[in-house]
This record gives sequence, structure tokens and C-alpha cells, in this order.
Amino acid sequence: MPSLHDSWEIGGVHVPNRVLLAPLAGIGNWFVRLQAKRYGAGMAVSEMVSSFGIHHGNEKTCTEMLRVHPDEHRGGPVALQLFGQDPDVMRSAAATVAERGLVDIIDLNMGCPVPKVTKTGAGAAMLKDPDTAVAVASAAREGSGLPVTVKLRSGDRKGDTSGVALAHRLVEEAGVAAITFHPRSAQVHHKGTPDYDLAAELVRSLPAPVILTGGLHDVASVTAAYERTGAAGVMLARGSLGNPWLFSQVLGLRDDEPTREEILEELDWVMECAVQHMGAERGGRYLRKFYPWYVTRLGEGNVLQQALQRTDTVEQARSILAPLRARVAVA
Ligand SMILES: Cc1cc2nc3c(=O)[nH]c(=O)nc-3n(C[C@H](O)[C@H](O)[C@H](O)COP(=O)(O)O)c2cc1C
Repeated sequence: MPSLHDSWEIGGVHVPNRVLLAPLAGIGNWFVRLQAKRYGAGMAVSEMVSSFGIHHGNEKTCTEMLRVHPDEHRGGPVALQLFGQDPDVMRSAAATVAERGLVDIIDLNMGCPVPKVTKTGAGAAMLKDPDTAVAVASAAREGSGLPVTVKLRSGDRKGDTSGVALAHRLVEEAGVAAITFHPRSAQVHHKGTPDYDLAAELVRSLPAPVILTGGLHDVASVTAAYERTGAAGVMLARGSLGNPWLFSQVLGLRDDEPTREEILEELDWVMECAVQHMGAERGGRYLRKFYPWYVTRLGEGNVLQQALQRTDTVEQARSILAPLRARVAVA
């Protein structure tokens, strides 16, 4: 069995190791992906992007959400995740992404359980419409000429394993290069223990690599799930929020937890990037999502959390964090 450091390929694209960043809606922008790469991730997948938004030239979709930092390509491939249930729209969106030369791989979301997405027939609704799922995946391949991967769940509700059959059809009929498997049903969203034995069954039977996602929160859980399933790679999601050090730890590049100084420095880097990404005002508000992860890791309590949640600008947040930075500097 290969080690998590070993390189491999997805549809002919070289991936330097097997520890990858999962797609995270509203979070997985260029700087979160770049951060994961800085700490060793072998590939990073974008937050999900609407194929309709790209097809219709929506400004925010085509600028902000398609932004890729040149340094992202340094540590291995970048994948863009698209969602949508219309094959023609997917073909057009995938072609636009490929023409821009932004990414190496297109990933398709067939696992999102959120009603806003499933009511359109996209995301996890594809489990119930495998013919459309196959048509969408074929269209993404034809439109882009890039390797296409699909991320999906084990099934719709508890006990349903339709995701396994869909994974086979996607690989065998649509030529999908790899499957990311989240062995939880759409019904439970992100709760409960993933069914790693079902993932192992898929790994054994599928004629394409399976990437595992779900419940991979620390080195022990990642190693155990990787060994138990025999997956080709692992995708870190919630475990990596405000915790890029997890990539290095899983890859054996470091053992210890980050120091307070490292955490504060990393948060500072994230704040700078958010301003670059969205400007001082929107960036300041966007960062409220990020602060709790870092504050928790610092071992700080509610007073700091709430103060940061009340900030409107990055400058306000910086002045709240200044005493902590000063204390670290003195120590
Ligand atoms: C905030 C959040 C946003 C997510 N966004 C996406 C997404 O855009 N596309 C996707 O395929 N999965 C998405 N997921 C699912 C994750 O990629 C991952 O499969 C899931 O969280 C299970 O892994 P975990 O238990 O290690 O967190 C999201 C999960 C979370 C918590």
C-alpha cells in the first residue's frame, strides 16, 4: 500500500502526495487553497462554483470565484469544483474554465445535500437521476478536455448505497478519472460516523482511484481510515479549518502543534489575503467566519471571539489582536 507521501496520477495529472484539501463552499477560495499547499497539500479543490454562473457570465462568479493564485500551482494541481444539472450549461462552463487555463482538473459536485442546490436537481439530487449525472460528467469532459472527477455520497438516506452504483457508471460510461467518496448519506449532511467499510468496497471494485472524505480530523483518524479503506488519497475538510498544520502533521513533516506565534502569524496572513481578495470592507466582514477557528486554536475564550465578531474592518480586528501579538513578542 502506498504511503500518503507517495505521488500518483489523476487522469494523467501528476499529484505529488495523497493528502488533499476538500472543496468547502464559501471558504475554499484561492488563499485557503494556497494556505493548504504551503503546508504540503498535494492538491486543493475549490469551493463549489455554479456552472450557470459561469455560463451566464455572472461577474462575481467569473472574477472572485474563478480566481486562482499563480503560486497555487507550485505544490501540485488545482481542481475547480462545478455544480449544476444541465449538461449543455456544464459543457459551456467547463469550456470557459479550460479556455482560461486556470486549473488542471474539473471536479463535479454530486454530493451537496443543501435544499437550495438539490431542489434544482444538482448536488446530491443526482443520486436519484444517474442518467443526468452521467450526461453532466460527459459534458464536462467534452467541454473542457480536462480530467474530470466527481465527489459524491454513499446514498440519499441511511442504508441507501446508490452512490456506489453511480460511481461505477460515472467511471465506466462517462470516463470520470477519479471519485471522491463521502460515505455518509445526504440525509445526515455532515453528522455521524462515515461508513468506511462501504468506501473500502468501492475502492476494491472501482476501476479508478477513490479519494476518501469524511471524519478525517486528526492524524490518527486519517491514518486509520486510509489504511482501512485502501483509498488512493484523503481529503481534509473540517479538520483543516484554521488548521493548515494538519496537512504537515499527516504528511509527517511535523509532529507538534503550532505555537501561539505561528497561529497569530497565520491569522495575519489570512487577514492580508482577505483584504487582497475582497477589499478592506467586505474582507473585514468575510473574516468573521475565519476568526473562531484561530481563536479556538489559541485557547482563547468567548470575550475575544465576540469582540472579533463585532468588527467591521480588518483594522479593528488587528487592534483587538495587537495585545496578544505583543505578549507573544515579549515571551
Ligand atoms: C462548511 C462546509 C462547506 C462544504 N462545501 C462543500 C462543497 O462546496 N463541495 C463539496 O463537494 N463538499 C463540500 N463540503 C463537504 C466537505 O468537502 C467534506 O466532504 C465533508 O465536510 C466531510 O469531511 P469532514 O467530516 O472531514 O469534514 C463542505 C463541508 C463543510 C463543512
